[in-house]
Amino acid sequence: MIQIKKIEAFETYPIRLEILRKNIPLPYKFEGDLDNETFHLGVFKNEVLIAVSSYMKVKNKRFTGNQYQLRGMATLSEYRGFGAGKFMLQEAFSILKDFEIDYLWCNARIVAVDFYKKQGFQIYGDEFEVPIVGKHYVMFKKISND
Ligand SMILES: CC(C)(COP(=O)(O)OP(=O)(O)OC[C@H]1O[C@@H](n2cnc3c(N)ncnc32)[C@H](O)[C@@H]1OP(=O)(O)O)[C@@H](O)C(=O)NCCC(=O)NCCS
Repeated sequence: MIQIKKIEAFETYPIRLEILRKNIPLPYKFEGDLDNETFHLGVFKNEVLIAVSSYMKVKNKRFTGNQYQLRGMATLSEYRGFGAGKFMLQEAFSILKDFEIDYLWCNARIVAVDFYKKQGFQIYGDEFEVPIVGKHYVMFKKISND
């Protein structure tokens, strides 16, 4: 059985470490992880956590209005392509709409750009390099008045 739940920051750390920080010596704990306005989503398959993502009230000067940043989106390799990432984003869009948020944005790794596009995100601006991790695009999704 598949379930999506709000989880605590510490529950995201093992998957962040395995999927997003393998051979990447950058912190797996993010500034803002424990902020009151931050929330974390997890997908469970038969009680096993298989995917995580985090949502933080961080403003990007490229956008106006109320904003959240998506961080730490990852699905364990063996569970990819079954909708876990999509389900988390759909849940987040619904929560953020209730919060009256205008934009959800993220720094998207090149390999994930098409995944985000499928969920309604658009690219903003030119690609940029994140040291050690590689090329990224800023991507955003308008949440309000969808
Ligand atoms: C990107 C990632 C989170 C997607 O998670 P997932 O649970 O496999 O995604 P879903 O199964 O919900 O996929 C939803 C749709 O996007 C597609 N998709 C998933 N990953 C994709 C990718 N990298 N490129 C293109 N399409 C992708 C799926 O085929 C599916 O399409 P469909 O709706 O037509 O069937 C996962 O591949 C991952 O953890 N990647 C490594 C970490 C990473 O790069 N994270 C993003 C950092 S910015």
